[in-house]
Amino acid sequence: MNKKIITIDGWSACGKSTLAKQLANKLGYVYIDSGAMYRAITLFFLRNSIDLSNTVEVSAALKNINIDFRFNPDAKHADIYLNDENIETLIRDLSVAEKVSAIAAIEAVRTFAVAQQQKMGVNKGIVMDGRDIGTTVFPTAEIKLFMTADSDIRVERRLKELRPKNPQITREEVKKNLETRDHLDSTREISPLRKAEDAIVLDNSHLSMEEQLAFALRLV
Ligand code: DC
Repeated sequence: MNKKIITIDGWSACGKSTLAKQLANKLGYVYIDSGAMYRAITLFFLRNSIDLSNTVEVSAALKNINIDFRFNPDAKHADIYLNDENIETLIRDLSVAEKVSAIAAIEAVRTFAVAQQQKMGVNKGIVMDGRDIGTTVFPTAEIKLFMTADSDIRVERRLKELRPKNPQITREEVKKNLETRDHLDSTREISPLRKAEDAIVLDNSHLSMEEQLAFALRLV
């Protein structure tokens, strides 16, 4: 079977990465979490107190960032590394989530990330999730999904994910973070989150993981 590029875009915390991992495992494709790349850049900027309004400082910082994905056999997917450090867990922290949308809106940051993402897709056989994958990164992808889910369900899912590592986190904090990010991600000037014209909408509010996988596999 000819290898394809599958793009999954959509709102925060609606299960894009869960579906992308399932699809990649089922099809023997590579899974790339593009949001993890923006989170990695954010972690680097936070650690080095980069002034976001200083374009020279931002460009210089990007030159010191090396991001790669390495397969983790226990998790059955790739972990993200920033300059040889496994940061898969660190980037899920709320401190990163609170800054990532502002950093992902910077032109130099997007140019840096998109170029790497496009390189990862040259041999196809890839599932990539994010916000602009079907519109900007791979506009000619064979299969494009746009995922959505009820906002209360999304908050509940993200809360469940974050609570084991951060028992203090509140529903309000999570809700506010998702709303703020969705607003910033969909209203920014460069490559805002939007459904590609040829993307298929998948609302998984009331679907099980098996049902959403079956839906996506039928498309493939
Ligand atoms: O998928 P995620 O929630 O981990 O992504 C974190 C942030 O990164 C998201 O709020 C916006 C940004 N992002 C983006 O701008 N473009 C992408 N393709 C993926 C993520």
